Amino acid sequence: MISNESIQKVLNHTDIVEVIGHFISVKKRGANYIANCPFHNEKTPSFNINPAKGIFKCFGCGKGGDAVAFIEEHEKFSFVEAVRWLADFYKIELEETAPSESYVAQQQVEESLRIVNEFAANYFHDILLQHEEGQNIGGSYFTERGFTKDTIAKFRLGYSLDQWDAFVQAATAKGYSPELLEKAGLIKVKPERTFDNYRGRVIFPIFGNTGKVLGFGARILKKNDKAPKYVNTPENELYVKNRVLYGLYQARKAINDKQECYLVEGYTDVISLHQAGIENVVASSGTSLTTGQLKLIGHLTKNLTILYDGDAAGIKAALRGLDMALEENFIVKLVLLPEGEDPDSFVQKNGSSAFETYIKEQKKDVIDFMMELGLKEAQNDPFKKSGLVNEIAESISKIDKTKNLGLQLHYIKEAAQKLGVEEEAFVGIVNNFIRDKVKQQQRTEATKTTEPQDAYFNPDDLSVTQEASLNLFQKEYKEEWQLIKMLIEYGSKPYAETGTVADYFYENIDIASFENALAHDIAMAYYQYWSEKKEHPALQFFVNHPMKSIKEKVVDLIQVEHQPSENWLKKFNIELPIPEELYEEDVKSSFAYFKLKLLKRYLLENLEQLKNCTAPEEIEKLIRTNLLLKQQEKELMNIVIVR
Ligand code: CTP
Ligand code: MN
Repeated sequence: MISNESIQKVLNHTDIVEVIGHFISVKKRGANYIANCPFHNEKTPSFNINPAKGIFKCFGCGKGGDAVAFIEEHEKFSFVEAVRWLADFYKIELEETAPSESYVAQQQVEESLRIVNEFAANYFHDILLQHEEGQNIGGSYFTERGFTKDTIAKFRLGYSLDQWDAFVQAATAKGYSPELLEKAGLIKVKPERTFDNYRGRVIFPIFGNTGKVLGFGARILKKNDKAPKYVNTPENELYVKNRVLYGLYQARKAINDKQECYLVEGYTDVISLHQAGIENVVASSGTSLTTGQLKLIGHLTKNLTILYDGDAAGIKAALRGLDMALEENFIVKLVLLPEGEDPDSFVQKNGSSAFETYIKEQKKDVIDFMMELGLKEAQNDPFKKSGLVNEIAESISKIDKTKNLGLQLHYIKEAAQKLGVEEEAFVGIVNNFIRDKVKQQQRTEATKTTEPQDAYFNPDDLSVTQEASLNLFQKEYKEEWQLIKMLIEYGSKPYAETGTVADYFYENIDIASFENALAHDIAMAYYQYWSEKKEHPALQFFVNHPMKSIKEKVVDLIQVEHQPSENWLKKFNIELPIPEELYEEDVKSSFAYFKLKLLKRYLLENLEQLKNCTAPEEIEKLIRTNLLLKQQEKELMNIVIVR
């Protein structure tokens, strides 16, 4: 792990203009620099670099951040990889430190799972190719399905013998523990016996981005009403469904080259299409896509083509993830296959060129598709028709127009024309949905008081770029939630000289400065109870709170171990939550996180003032403040890092 000092050193050395200028051509414009944005297509530059603040922002596509964020996005690097790249660029030697225990523990479990999965994938593959039962049963099955030797090798397909514990025997002989094998989903440990989980099934290994096996899907060979068709790896430290898409490893390059991703339902669909030379395809594995999975595709392309069965269930499944895909700014197309066919059967029957032709002819924009389907259903019923108009407008309103204004306009034009309504009126309906969405966000976000906040500057005054760079620092208000959790869990416990944690909290934190309205409300509710009843509210008070949002959030906070900002975890390798005896440390560090976030804001403000300041005495004062803030930042950093 890279030491914090080294990271700081690299960041201090980094000149954002120089770094970005290494990749694209930048032009000076006033105090700033501009360029054509490398993250979306444009002819007139809307990509701005502010060297004083060390940040960039594209007003076209919304991307923004510091130099590290640029490298992360441009090179598709992780934070650590980006820092290493910068260190290399500036010839700074990185000091490596030992990683934390909890990090090591997580890594060890992941690594053990990786090793045991690799062993299992080889084992099942060997059984398929070498063992008599494997060849006779598994091999014939794949041959019948039309899979070639090359395909079987490419996807490392396998077979698990139809015996109680053939794999258990082989794996334990190699020294793998039953606990690990069970966690990996490969075996079941029951009091009566320990047995193989995939007995008599063909095996589809599921690969991660680097080609390592994360888990398996195991298909039954004969139809059996009692046993499930597929048995899949359960979620564990390595196999996290939200981060895995079947076929993505093999499809990455083709998706990027073709700038289109086909989405199918099954393992066998992916495999058959690959065999036919159509490689830009991934499978949702029978469930609807999650946002995490969409993001995996979104790194490569925003053109998603869903290939589903033409029956009612297939259509429903295809439309289920639509709003989510629109929110992620995908352009979603739909191809319905003839009823009873899936991509696998279609391509095996008709061949790849017939398949490509079919796609080309049948491909429909998904919103067009919804409209046609709806219009057919509505016939001349005016009520149904206006319902449809609303439905389509709502879907269109999901598109984030700050990221892709053209896309929303395109859909609005199309829809108004197809539905036979005035474009202007239709825009009005879409806008209503957008307004509702914004209102709802506001309701849950800002219920901030209007009192003057002298100690804190008003976040509403932040410019767009400042806000973007603030977001870099804290997403999802984690620092605020961490504080709230401390308050609820340890509010009545002694702390500092002042008395209790709650005393310290209300003396030192201006809850009006909270950006998250719900966090603010919970802090308020605590305070009111406390001052009225002269005693600290118990956890039950919140868990049974009449306001649903408070109740749910508190349950969520307390049950799921809440961790400080992931960014901090990532950047400074802070350990996971600590046991209750050590609450003082935890509280101390939570306050420090929160103050650090405020400091970051002050620093931005200070820099902004410096930029606009011309009077020498004023400048001197601002610089002194700047140094003071930096000093405090350093001190706080020590508190959050040390523990
Ligand atoms: N699936 C699952 N569990 C099941 C059924 C299905 O996990 N009991 C997932 C699998 O990932 C499967 C996908 O849903 O690949 C699609 O299901 P289906 O179309 O029934 O399976 P295919 O993979 O197409 O298998 P086959 O072609 O052999 O019918
Ligand atoms: Mn199938």
